[in-house]
Amino acid sequence: MDYKVLTEQAEGLLDAEPWYVAAFSNLSALIMDTLPDLNWAGFYLLREGRLTVGPFQGKPACIHIAPGKGVCGTALERNETVLVPDVHLFPGHIACDGASESEIVVPLRENGRAKAVLDIDSPIKNRFTEEDRQGLEALAAVIERRINWREE
Ligand code: SME
Repeated sequence: MDYKVLTEQAEGLLDAEPWYVAAFSNLSALIMDTLPDLNWAGFYLLREGRLTVGPFQGKPACIHIAPGKGVCGTALERNETVLVPDVHLFPGHIACDGASESEIVVPLRENGRAKAVLDIDSPIKNRFTEEDRQGLEALAAVIERRINWREE
């Protein structure tokens, strides 16, 4: 997987429009279109103390996730990437799409604090590797540098 190309394309999208709704919409489409063997890719945003679903590609998903709950809430609370080779073995995993078998969640930070997470699901166990973790963390760093979180 060529994460360098993916990250360059992400930079292009963010440069064209850094507003988070537009950027996350196209970034979720880019990830879904680029990475093989995914069934869900998108963003959850911290709002009023909990994660709320944002732009994504895939089946309709859980709307709210509390900090510390599921893979997403765990990544938010720990402020670090959580890679789950088999979701059935992750205590508290929240099953939004029954097809999901493995998952990776990467926090997106503002001033060092997690403000959103990038959540990617696969219907294949052990889909995500250390290469994916590093590539997606590099992508997250690019997003963090360029994103505009403001509503207007
Ligand atoms: N599985 C996630 C919930 C979100 S869906 O995968 C889209 C979790 O356990 O946090």
